Amino acid sequence: MPIPEILTSVSGEKITTKEQWETYRRKEIMALFENFVYGVRPIERPTDLAFEATQEKNWLGLGITRKTVTIRFAGYSFKTYGFLADDAKGNIPCFDYIMHEAQSNKSQIEDDSFLNCVYIDILEICRRGYGIFITPTYPLAPDWDSHCNYREGIYPLYDTERKPNSWATISAWSWGLSRVLDYIETDADFDASRVITCGHSRGGKTALWAAATDTRFYSAISNCSGCTGAALLRGKLGEHIKDINITDWFCENYHSFNDNEEMLPVDQHMLLAAIAPRPCYVASASEDEWADPKAERLSCRLAKEVYALYGKTGAILPDESEIKFDTAYHAGDVGHHTKTGVHGIIHSDWNYYLDFFDKELAK
Ligand code: GCU
Repeated sequence: MPIPEILTSVSGEKITTKEQWETYRRKEIMALFENFVYGVRPIERPTDLAFEATQEKNWLGLGITRKTVTIRFAGYSFKTYGFLADDAKGNIPCFDYIMHEAQSNKSQIEDDSFLNCVYIDILEICRRGYGIFITPTYPLAPDWDSHCNYREGIYPLYDTERKPNSWATISAWSWGLSRVLDYIETDADFDASRVITCGHSRGGKTALWAAATDTRFYSAISNCSGCTGAALLRGKLGEHIKDINITDWFCENYHSFNDNEEMLPVDQHMLLAAIAPRPCYVASASEDEWADPKAERLSCRLAKEVYALYGKTGAILPDESEIKFDTAYHAGDVGHHTKTGVHGIIHSDWNYYLDFFDKELAK
């Protein structure tokens, strides 16, 4: 199955400069992803967007400030929860983490016990001088197994009728990450030009799409995002388009490509390329065959040519046969590690992320 070329336009022109990339090809690729994969957002920042924030110092006696932010629009709202060290000096970089329902459910959001549902190393993140906002997905768009059929969450606020290219769950969640960034722009504790989207699995797909659609984001972290995240679809092992389309994560048009990957005009290396020249991080797990770590690394390798247009390196990885597990590949602008183990986000993942961003932010 031939892999679509990132630097050849739909009309067959070769793209050789960053100006051509930005003016033509990147826009073309984004339109293809919107119309055939993630769906088109009906709105960007709502004109009536408003925030209410409260904060608690020394949360749980940990020397951490916890902020609860309600983000309101169109008579609706969702919440995000921010964390930073009590003694942080202002203007710090931060992560914008999407917490999906496989990591937290609706009742846990109400009593905040969702914070124990997934490994987010809040203490270490704050100790290293970063902040983090954690946004549960339920109010934005309930996940597919609650069968809401796009009738709950933010869809009914802006969708008058569903079309084959209408937005779907991953797009709605990534829209939420952008609204969190709108809040961060108003809070002097954080530096809005150094915000990193982050998520695990379906959250990793969301983090990548959020950074591709909103260029205000400094970077994205994909933790085990797999199919329709970082992994190249063509030739992929494990999950395929037909498997993932049992969910309602992608637009209706994407279903045409079930068992028909070769007809899709894009592949996931182009999603990473759409984030270039900004830094990006793709993390995998050695036993995560459903996501396919090798296919995730292949996208990283193929996205390099867009970084090169900017005089940047992209990912610096050894040949596939020489990849070592539990090893940081941080030399390039696209960081990578494959941890030994299964699909998940664990303490060591955060250490790799913090090390990589310490290096990138010092540039
Ligand atoms: C399923 C799905 C994956 C997804 C994962 C998750 O395994 O097939 O595509 O990444 O759930 O989000 O946990």
